[in-house]
Amino acid sequence: MIKPALPYSLRASTVHSHCVQEDSLSPPCATGRPQFPLLICGTALCPTLTMTTICSAGHLTIRAAEETDIPLIARWRSDPRVIEFYSGRDRPLGEAGVRRHYFDRSDVPPAGSVHEYQPCVAEVDERPIGFVQFYRLRPADSEEFGYRLPERTFGLDLFIGDPSLWGQGFGTLLIILTVKYLTTEKGVKRVVADPRADNPRSIRALEKAGFRRVRKLPAHEKFEGALQDCWLMEYP
Ligand SMILES: CC(C)(COP(=O)(O)OP(=O)(O)OC[C@H]1O[C@@H](n2cnc3c(N)ncnc32)[C@H](O)[C@@H]1OP(=O)(O)O)[C@@H](O)C(=O)NCCC(=O)NCCS
Repeated sequence: MIKPALPYSLRASTVHSHCVQEDSLSPPCATGRPQFPLLICGTALCPTLTMTTICSAGHLTIRAAEETDIPLIARWRSDPRVIEFYSGRDRPLGEAGVRRHYFDRSDVPPAGSVHEYQPCVAEVDERPIGFVQFYRLRPADSEEFGYRLPERTFGLDLFIGDPSLWGQGFGTLLIILTVKYLTTEKGVKRVVADPRADNPRSIRALEKAGFRRVRKLPAHEKFEGALQDCWLMEYP
């Protein structure tokens, strides 16, 4: 089992880590990819990949979710062990639901547009392990959170799809990498998340990634039939 290494250093780059291993300052890992320094790449299609990579660090890659991921995401989004903590066991999403929710959203303009919504799949050594999405918050969200958010504030949320991988640092690393991408590549000033107050694993992973609890949001999310308190958490 690969345990992600923390902390790490960051070096901006427009190329993928596995495309520049000769230039890496550190020896390649067992897969032939360099583990460090962290190389952040802007969204670009690598000639050795068929998928659109957003950023990568060592073994971990975040790539844009594509329609071919719908069966996988539906499997995760209907697994009661996962949705017990994410969206609720009363709201499993099958393939049609995943398509509607992530790929046919008329209310959310796609990446590159003003709200810059991006659903992503996280992979460790090309094995999909989870899902992360980020999106630019709208003025209405400022009201919801009860104070004025800076101009370029993004929200993120995530899950690791295989519960046997929980508690090994992957979630923290995925948050760190997403935040580094948003702040260094997309000029994002603040990233927020609003985990439910009764999800200590999620809160702890966010804190380890540099988020801090800002305020309790009472009755913020309808979850499994009841309104639940959440924490507004901010980075930095
Ligand atoms: C939340 C999630 C993304 C975190 O990823 P992860 O890889 O499991 O998290 P990490 O291993 O990086 O960190 C988890 C931390 O929580 C701690 N933790 C676990 N259960 C805990 C509990 N009941 N109380 C307090 N801390 C807890 C772990 O010990 C670890 O902290 P440590 O490294 O200081 O020991 C993942 O568990 C997941 O997908 N959960 C289900 C869906 C979900 O909750 N999504 C988030 C919705 S906001």
